Amino acid sequence: MRILLLGGGGREHALAWKLNQSVWTNPLYIAPGNPGTASCGKNVSLDINDFEAVGKFCYLESINMIVVGPEEPLVNGLYDFFKSKEELKDIYFIGPSQQGAQLEGSKAFAKAFMQRHSIPTAGYKEFTIENYAEGAHYLQQHDVPIVIKADGLAAGKGVAICQNHVEAIAEFEMLLQHSKFGEASKKVVVEEFLEGIEFSVFVLTDGKNYVLLPEAKDYKRIGVGDQGMNTGGMGAVSPVPFLTPGLMKKVEERVIKPTISGLQKENIEYTGFIYFGLINVKGEPFVIEYNCRMGDPEAEVVLPRLENDLVGLFVAATQKELDMVEIRLDARAAATVVAVSNGYPTGYKTGYPIKGIDQFFGKQTLIFQAGTREEDGKVLTNGGRVLAVTSYGENIKEAVQSSLEVLGQIHYEGIYFREDIGHEFIQRSSVS
Ligand code: AMP
Ligand code: GLY
Repeated sequence: MRILLLGGGGREHALAWKLNQSVWTNPLYIAPGNPGTASCGKNVSLDINDFEAVGKFCYLESINMIVVGPEEPLVNGLYDFFKSKEELKDIYFIGPSQQGAQLEGSKAFAKAFMQRHSIPTAGYKEFTIENYAEGAHYLQQHDVPIVIKADGLAAGKGVAICQNHVEAIAEFEMLLQHSKFGEASKKVVVEEFLEGIEFSVFVLTDGKNYVLLPEAKDYKRIGVGDQGMNTGGMGAVSPVPFLTPGLMKKVEERVIKPTISGLQKENIEYTGFIYFGLINVKGEPFVIEYNCRMGDPEAEVVLPRLENDLVGLFVAATQKELDMVEIRLDARAAATVVAVSNGYPTGYKTGYPIKGIDQFFGKQTLIFQAGTREEDGKVLTNGGRVLAVTSYGENIKEAVQSSLEVLGQIHYEGIYFREDIGHEFIQRSSVS
């Protein structure tokens, strides 16, 4: 099968690594990819938001399957573009339709969808410039903290948790009056604050059936102890020890099944991943967000734990036959620790040589490249998040330890990573 994977980060390196293991894959192209994905297939230089260019490549290269890593092309309608073209419509497409991608692309759409299908989520109201005064009044009456979200895609920066009313009004004004995120903040969602522990659950769905993938917990803050600014993700672990069978059953019955049947009832085309960002509030799961793709760095722990052939799963999804599939998991834990550039997530420099990544670190460790590029045969830093180092272990502690040991042997100027990934699941010997 001739496969094109879109994207170029750590998630796509993990996807490429997994796709490349399939007996079905021949060849695998990755656009634009990175030096890491080049070891799994052939990188091609394409702008993944240029639909005509992506379509032309697929036509000329007789691509049979396209797998979309990031959300942006999906939210912008790449699926619909392919389905509208005679020469592209039969290509197996892994990723939802534009409407399905609105689960991630519009917070207001996602909230209304959840309300229509009685899926547990924080109470909310939406506002635009038209009912600004009503919104400001609503905020004044609201309990604190107040969660304020830009409706559209805002590169992970669209959520503000305001500790008091002054902060909340200021944020509301920035979003609606001063277009903080342009089009993405023309609409704003104001939400109740939920207190609990977050975790993520992933499914692959064919729009009718779904298979459950391993769950994960990611670490969003830049600093040790979950302090400091939000990032794209500094690490992740799988499994999530507090996700008991009882809690998982609630997640399936109250969240996953109503979501899939909701999509079906509303005739929303959806073949691809759904990422459920959840929060455990005193044993009850609530949805914080949907994403229409795999997480990054969650993919770097989820895919290594998946034993099934990924192309086989994707084919079953396109045939609406996921009910025939049984998921097999590696029983070991997996942890990924993300190495970033000094200064991330605000300002950082790139172009530093990365030393030590070519060594073999043993079968328990995988090095996924994220923000890297190659120049004169050398791999250089090329982004905020540079590498995701994933290890297997008998438990989370062992997996994290292995990744930290490997990171100790990798160097580039300004390397930074959190040493406490998985901290809440790691027993520390108490010193008396
Ligand atoms: P999102 O971009 O929707 O993933 O939100 C970013 C982060 O904001 C989440 O991972 C949560 O930590 C936090 N968050 C979002 N909505 C809520 C909420 N209703 N209550 C508490 N925290 C929230
Ligand atoms: N790690 C969070 C995300 O992929 O959205």
